[in-house]
Amino acid sequence: ERTLRRRQDLAGKRIVVTAGPTIEEIDPVRYLSNASSGKMGYAIAEAAVARGAEVHLISGPVPLPPVPGARVETIRSTQDLLDAVMRVIDQADVFISAAAPADFRPVRRLAQKWKKTDGTPVLELEPTPDVLAAAAARRRSGQVFVGFAAETHDAVVYGRDKLARKRLDLVVVNDVTEPGAGFAVDTNRVVVLDGQGGEEALPLMSKREVAERILDRVAELLQARRE
Ligand code: CTP
Ligand code: CA
Repeated sequence: ERTLRRRQDLAGKRIVVTAGPTIEEIDPVRYLSNASSGKMGYAIAEAAVARGAEVHLISGPVPLPPVPGARVETIRSTQDLLDAVMRVIDQADVFISAAAPADFRPVRRLAQKWKKTDGTPVLELEPTPDVLAAAAARRRSGQVFVGFAAETHDAVVYGRDKLARKRLDLVVVNDVTEPGAGFAVDTNRVVVLDGQGGEEALPLMSKREVAERILDRVAELLQARRE
């Protein structure tokens, strides 16, 4: 029954999904990045295609096959991700920010490889732009914004803070230290927070099923805004 209801319930909706890590180059052979596998974002893109959405997946470098039926754009740095998102966000009905952008980048990228004989380098870092916050700042009415929160402690508290601070409709909270949740695995256990104070704790399930549950909530929000 749920499968039937889901079928094509996002027909014609333009959904932008970000996925995977970003990388910030130190020199031509080294970079800063993180453990994001991209699997959650790719599962969302796949599920959204199956439900009839027009999907634009913007992905950091991950060894996953492209999602059939989606437009897939690959990027490297957080700045690239920001540029790619800003080019398409105004036309989108839904933005789902599942990427794990690097939060810091080297202030300078070295043009040549740092040699051991140069000594031990000290990296000076600066913050990267917050893509989701920048996109949310120019959000227009009717658009649905979904963020993720990857946490190692006090996950729901930090998730609520991100919901409010980035002015989102939903935050999908992920304690990445829980078994079966977070990076690299095919399952996830999340809590979905909404702007009305609602807190939906989902059991451990496949990332595809988590994706479907998130899209159920997105479809509800889109529906409510039409009424
Ligand atoms: N995000 C983003 N751009 C960044 C960092 C994060 O768009 N430079 C988005 C992520 O895609 C996610 C949400 O913001 O949807 C929260 O990411 P997370 O890493 O959990 O939180 P941060 O705001 O980066 O804060 P911190 O890592 O310090 O918890
Ligand atoms: Ca972060």
